[in-house]
Amino acid sequence: MRRGALARLPLALALATLGGCGPRGAAPPGAPPPPGARLYVTTCSACHQLHGEGVGGVQPPLAGTPVAVGDPDELLRWVMFGIRPAALPKGPYAGVMPQFSYLSDEQLATLLTWVRASFGNHASAITPAMVATVRAAHAAG
Ligand code: HEC
Repeated sequence: MRRGALARLPLALALATLGGCGPRGAAPPGAPPPPGARLYVTTCSACHQLHGEGVGGVQPPLAGTPVAVGDPDELLRWVMFGIRPAALPKGPYAGVMPQFSYLSDEQLATLLTWVRASFGNHASAITPAMVATVRAAHAAG
């Protein structure tokens, strides 16, 4: 096997197990994972874990946690700029979360919509227009 193919193997394996975790009934078995799942695995799962279960005392779960399924603007401000929502008091988690404003409006919408419909979550979708609005408001200070 070539090196490139080997390097891709862990991602492929991780994605293969996500079937039971994503939105219920979203895709038939064996279908390629949705783009939101792929973005989640590459940008978030190292800390929040493959099924959104988190790591006790270090990184919170994303399954049913208040910010993940709460107000879309607060979630976007936290994920993009690290602006802490009231529902996430400082202290319980030892880890530090990076900021993700480098992702495009489309990527953030796809990724966060997937998170809000996965791990047992049933929160509303986030559109690229919603991301753009929060980004513009932040840039305007
Ligand atoms: C390097 C580790 C790391 C990565 C990568 C990471 N996070 Fe986090 N995340 C954390 C930590 C640590 C906290 C808690 C931080 C705090 O309270 O100061 C957190 C908190 C959160 C929360 C609040 C949980 C709640 O609902 O109460 C959400 C939502 C969240 N992260 C989403 C994401 C998303 C989406 C991604 C990928 C784009 C991501 N995180 C990537 C470490 C990470």
